[in-house]
This record gives sequence, structure tokens and C-alpha cells, in this order.
Amino acid sequence: MKNPYLPYPVRIDEITTETEDKNLKTFKFVFLNPEDEKNFSYTPGQFAELSVAGKGEIPIGIASSPTEKGFVKFTVNKVGVVSSTLHNMSVGDTMGIRGPLGNWYPWKEMEGKNIVIIGGGFAFTTLRSSIIYMLHPDNRPKFKDITVVYGARTPGMLLYKEELAAWERRDDINMHITVDGTTDPDWKYNIGFVPAITEKKITSADNTIAIVCGPPIMIKFTQPVLEKLGFPPERIILSLEMRMKCGIGICGRCNIGDKYVCKDGPVFSLAQLKELPPEY
Ligand SMILES: Cc1cc2nc3c(=O)[nH]c(=O)nc-3n(C[C@H](O)[C@H](O)[C@H](O)COP(=O)(O)OP(=O)(O)OC[C@H]3O[C@@H](n4cnc5c(N)ncnc54)[C@H](O)[C@@H]3O)c2cc1C
Ligand code: FES
Repeated sequence: MKNPYLPYPVRIDEITTETEDKNLKTFKFVFLNPEDEKNFSYTPGQFAELSVAGKGEIPIGIASSPTEKGFVKFTVNKVGVVSSTLHNMSVGDTMGIRGPLGNWYPWKEMEGKNIVIIGGGFAFTTLRSSIIYMLHPDNRPKFKDITVVYGARTPGMLLYKEELAAWERRDDINMHITVDGTTDPDWKYNIGFVPAITEKKITSADNTIAIVCGPPIMIKFTQPVLEKLGFPPERIILSLEMRMKCGIGICGRCNIGDKYVCKDGPVFSLAQLKELPPEY
């Protein structure tokens, strides 16, 4: 059995600066040993530990979809020691990836249903993975209507701008992009906070599952909107971020009550969270 603490060696193949403040970059990695790509078999919603020699490891949601072959992508916010070191690395540099870790969005349950994806800020990463996955021709027939509400502070802070524009042009996904505010006279999408746009654009909870990923304040105000629309707590799916260390349910760093966010999560339904102490 493979040592669960041992990362796979990877090479940085491409770095994309996503936001105008340059604090969010997407790293495309290729595995140094091609068989490691098969072993790193993941499902949208999962995360991995990015491991930088001499600095440490950080848990980051997997932003690519398993339907994208030959690489794996992560979008990293520059906040502290490891993420800043990563931001200073270059194409061609090598490092490690440990995982995939955690659970995933409830894909089996989502089949045959309308899907509402609600994202805010840089927490959109595993939602990108999910959208790419659902839009793949092998998977699109499994889902009914797909609706996305995605917000950022300003147009310059939106992630994946080219992909957002491409999804806007498709007729098999309903996109509602929004910003908190802008002075850009050419801005053609919504202006307003994610909960308000959700309330305006989502009209029914019938046969629908909502996946919500964003900063705590966005989740706090989106939750009652969804409940008012008639979403039962078991059809509101959230992804949590906690401080983590091992990522595999051993160190006890990330627990809420008797659940480990790294192993039992990071994906939980609101019904499950209502059973836990309010520590998240
Ligand atoms: C399941 C999961 C998925 C995540 N996905 C992403 C992602 O896709 N992209 C991304 O940029 N980040 C993501 N994060 C957050 C990321 O793990 C932290 O930003 C990172 O660990 C910071 O490490 P650092 O060494 O750069 O900063 P540190 O030097 O450790 O800390 C810098 C500052 O950030 C704060 N901080 C560190 N870790 C966290 C955390 N987990 N939550 C809140 N505050 C924290 C510290 O308190 C400190 O103020 C995710 C976290 C989890 C648990
Ligand atoms: S990070 Fe160690 S138990 Fe979750």
C-alpha cells in the first residue's frame, strides 16, 4: 500500500494569473511519472495537499475535472508561507501533490436533477471542476437544467474569465455572473451580491440540488434564500474550509464534533451540518 503521506512528484506546466490584484494564480501540473496520473484518480469536490519542499503543505481544492486528461489544476490565493512560495515558483519547477483527499459532491444523487451552482470569490475552484465535468458530452445528459450564480467583488476579481464567457455562449447552461460593484461602463452582466442574485434568478427548488461554495458571509446569507425557495437542507450542499494538517483523518486538526472535515468532508449537506456543533 502506498504511504498516504508521500506526495506524487509533479512539474509546473503552466501558470495563469487569474485576477487583477495578481493574488490568484492557476497552476497546471503534470505528473513526472505518467502512472501517477492514474493513481491520482479524483472526483469533482475533492482536494489535495500541495507540497513545497522546505516550506510545507497546503490543502487546495482540485480545480480541473477528471474529464481533462494529462494534467491537474489548482487555483491558489496568495495568503501566507506556502502559497506565497508557490506564487514565486516558475514553469518547469517541481514539487509534490498528495491526494486526492476528502469526499466529493453527491454525483449519483445529482443525476436526473436540476443543478444550481452558487459560488463566490476564489471558492469557485471545485465548482469549475464540477461545471467542466457536467458539460462533458458523456455527462451532460445525466443532468437536467444547470444554472450557475457566480460572484466576485469586481470584474477583475472573477476567475476563469475565458471559460465564463464560453459558458455564457452555450445554451445548455444558464450563467448569472455578478459583481458587488463596478465602474466599467462595458460590464454587461449583473451587479449585486450573490444571495440577492440567487433570489432573483432561481425560481424553483423542484427536483433541484444546490451546491454552494464561497466565503462564510456569502453562505450565511445564501442559505436562508435557498430555504425560502423551498430547498430542503439535504438538497443544499456545502464545501467547508478548515485549518488542516494530515488531510487523512489522523491528526485531529480539522474536526467538528465527531466529524473530520478532511475525511468525512469537505462536502456536507446542510442537513448534516445542522447535526454538528456550530464550529464551522
Ligand atoms: C478543503 C480545502 C480546500 C481549499 N481550497 C483552496 C483553494 O482552492 N484555493 C485556495 O487558495 N485556498 C484554498 N484553501 C485554503 C488554503 O488551504 C489556505 O489558504 C492555505 O493553507 C494557506 O497556507 P499558507 O502557508 O499560504 O498560509 P499560512 O502562512 O499558513 O497562513 C496565512 C494566513 O492565512 C490563514 N489561513 C491559513 N489556512 C487557512 C484556512 N484553511 N482557512 C482559513 N484561513 C487560513 C492563516 O490564519 C493566516 O492568517 C482550502 C482549504 C481547505 C481546507
Ligand atoms: S487534517 Fe488531520 S484529521 Fe483532518
